[in-house]
Amino acid sequence: MKALVLAGGKGTRLRPITFTRAKQLVPVANKPILFYGIEAIRDAGVTDIGVIVGETADEVMAALGDGSRWGVTFTYIPQEAPLGLAHAVKIAEPFIAGEPFVMYLGDNLIANGISRFVADFEAGDSNAQILLAHVPNANQFGVAELGADGSVMRLVEKPLDPASDLALVGVYLFDASVFEAVNAIQPSARGELEITDAIQWLVDSGHTVRPYVIDGWWKDTGKLDDMLEANRIMLDAMQPVISSEAGEGTVFHGRVSTGRDTVTVGSTIRGPVVIGDGCEIREAYIGPYTAVGDGCRVIGAEVEHSILLRGSRIEGAGCRVADSLLGVDAAVRRVPSVQSACRLMIGDNSEVDLV
Ligand code: G1P
Repeated sequence: MKALVLAGGKGTRLRPITFTRAKQLVPVANKPILFYGIEAIRDAGVTDIGVIVGETADEVMAALGDGSRWGVTFTYIPQEAPLGLAHAVKIAEPFIAGEPFVMYLGDNLIANGISRFVADFEAGDSNAQILLAHVPNANQFGVAELGADGSVMRLVEKPLDPASDLALVGVYLFDASVFEAVNAIQPSARGELEITDAIQWLVDSGHTVRPYVIDGWWKDTGKLDDMLEANRIMLDAMQPVISSEAGEGTVFHGRVSTGRDTVTVGSTIRGPVVIGDGCEIREAYIGPYTAVGDGCRVIGAEVEHSILLRGSRIEGAGCRVADSLLGVDAAVRRVPSVQSACRLMIGDNSEVDLV
């Protein structure tokens, strides 16, 4: 059994953050999303992992390395353009070399890992296994229509009028017959070879495609709200580790993790919260479901339900920052002024909600 992890793609729905960084490397609870997927694959006993990389190849390769830190081996497979998930499968054929494999979209997070799906597939005789989840917004995903006997009838990529609320989760199991499928299909209207069409081809040509409706949570972290929710769920499951004790006048409530060399003075920190290494928190309130990256500063300010990337700062903001994502080295601060106005320098595609 091998694994194929997809870590290309442009992450357009997470701009401006993804102008400068791969979407799969944005941290959730201070750990890159992609690492959760690698751990899930490793925990399922699969160690030979192909990684599809695109424009952000250098960054992804620098973050993952050779795999030794997880006890796995990575083979990087460059995709020259984002031509679709089925195209990624196509170019991975030499690496997969006829073995069954699990394909994992690097921006997906799934509760309780994938071990049981991998074990089921290995024990069974189906050609493909797909995971489905009930969602309220099926038109944003690949959607499955099941027959009365529970078998897969039809799969449609992002239909305007979905036939069901069952979305395709970004974790698929295939045997070598998928290569026939990806070579048989044509690009979709958006110009991509869709994995959804390849699976439909398997169904239509009499292969066994086994659906598995999951009941735990699943997140495709392509958008800010999903990212914040994934952060919340991961922080909820976190086992706190305190590497820097609360400083003078600081109280930790509930589950709070702190990294090394982090200073907290005169502050209230209400978990679940994770704070990285080398941070400075002074006269601040850090509320539940906040992940503060390494080297951040929160001074005279309040923040909750937010993700602060490395080196970002909130200083004297004067309002509680909530439901927010601050990019690397970004700053939000209050400056003394006689006029009541906001002064902004924000990147392309940034969004600021003034409330
Ligand atoms: C892709 C697939 C879609 C699937 C989704 C899961 O969509 O094309 O079928 O439901 O991943 O994350 P994308 O997020 O690439 O638009």
